[in-house]
Amino acid sequence: MRILVTGGAGYIGTHTCLVLQQAGHDVAVLDNLANSKREGLTRVEALSGRPLGFYHVDLLDPPEVDRVFREFAPEAVLHFAALKAVGESVQFPAKYYQNNVTGTLNLCAAMDRHAVRTLVFSSSATVYGAPEEIPIREEAPLRATNPYGWSKVMMELILTDLHRADPTWRLSVLRYFNPVGAHQSGTIGEDPTGIPNNLFPYVTQVAVGKLDNLQIFGGDYPTADGTGIRDYIHVVDLAEGHLRALERLDPNGGHQIYNLGTGRGYSVLDVVRAFERIVGRAIPYEIVDRRSGDVAECYADPGRARTALQWEAGRDLDQMCEDAWRWQSQNPSGYA
Ligand code: NAD
Ligand code: UD1
Repeated sequence: MRILVTGGAGYIGTHTCLVLQQAGHDVAVLDNLANSKREGLTRVEALSGRPLGFYHVDLLDPPEVDRVFREFAPEAVLHFAALKAVGESVQFPAKYYQNNVTGTLNLCAAMDRHAVRTLVFSSSATVYGAPEEIPIREEAPLRATNPYGWSKVMMELILTDLHRADPTWRLSVLRYFNPVGAHQSGTIGEDPTGIPNNLFPYVTQVAVGKLDNLQIFGGDYPTADGTGIRDYIHVVDLAEGHLRALERLDPNGGHQIYNLGTGRGYSVLDVVRAFERIVGRAIPYEIVDRRSGDVAECYADPGRARTALQWEAGRDLDQMCEDAWRWQSQNPSGYA
């Protein structure tokens, strides 16, 4: 199948492009490189041994988006392109709504014009806000806590209405929990700009000596060791989930929503200890105040994806840490 991957040069996109190519698909990427580098795609090509189409295009530029559809003529789209920094979204909400929501509207309009109505969409567990029930099921109410999260809620609503208006759309909305780790070759991985906000890249940068020590945000949560619990999922499992979601789309149209997580929660200290075992030395840390907006616990009920997609995230925490560490130690400056 000819698959267009928006945001394909980014962290999850690169891993997914590789999985798609390895499954025999013809893949092209549309990315404005706002948060990624061309090098990631060169490395995907080296791993797959196959060429990857690349369009240096912004979703906010409809004529260019149209050109991509004319030239590549995709049969399906995987839509990763978005801005994702929560703190920045609070500071610059309009930029986030403009990029994420308008970008998605432009994409859907182009898809409609070119009669390509098959779409797998990157959503996030952020749409559950502070969940009332754990594990979280797809039926839980949607209520984000920041503009980034609301932009995901809005995009989900837009897709719901598109399908209502025209049931021939084939939509799969994937709500990721916490994607971490890297391809086991150590040649592609997460390459955050500046000081990382998220736990895994922060810990690996401490372990490699780029940062002095980890600050653990909160040691007084109502959890076994007092630190926050999350559902970390290996990025390659996540990438494979996309392939499965695409393969299982109803040929006659449909709109499905799936949690992609492991269903298992680990605390910040569990992650630190796993890294210490793998790296072979202590990770210096201090426990500081809670980070505003954080919840104590968040993990998925992955049952729907297991049943309907016959997909399960099989890689465990040790493998997530090992692969994240291999990527970080082989590429201390990321793709630079
Ligand atoms: P990323 O920043 O590495 O990748 C996103 C890519 O989209 C980047 O390459 C960026 O340059 C591109 N992009 C952004 N705006 C664009 C635009 N207007 N036009 C063209 N390209 C554009 O992020 P990621 O971690 O790979 O996330 C991929 C998707 O998954 C995003 O939609 C994100 O919101 C979602 N998600 C990520 C996480 C996570 O923790 N990484 C969790 C849940 C959901
Ligand atoms: C973050 C995003 C969320 C996104 C999710 C997916 C924020 C505020 N939220 O969630 O929108 O959907 O990633 O990956 O960015 N921690 C520390 N010290 C650190 C960094 C993190 O103790 O330096 C703790 C956090 O308090 C949390 C856990 O580690 O308990 C995981 O944090 P992080 O990796 O930032 O992910 P989330 O906050 O779950």
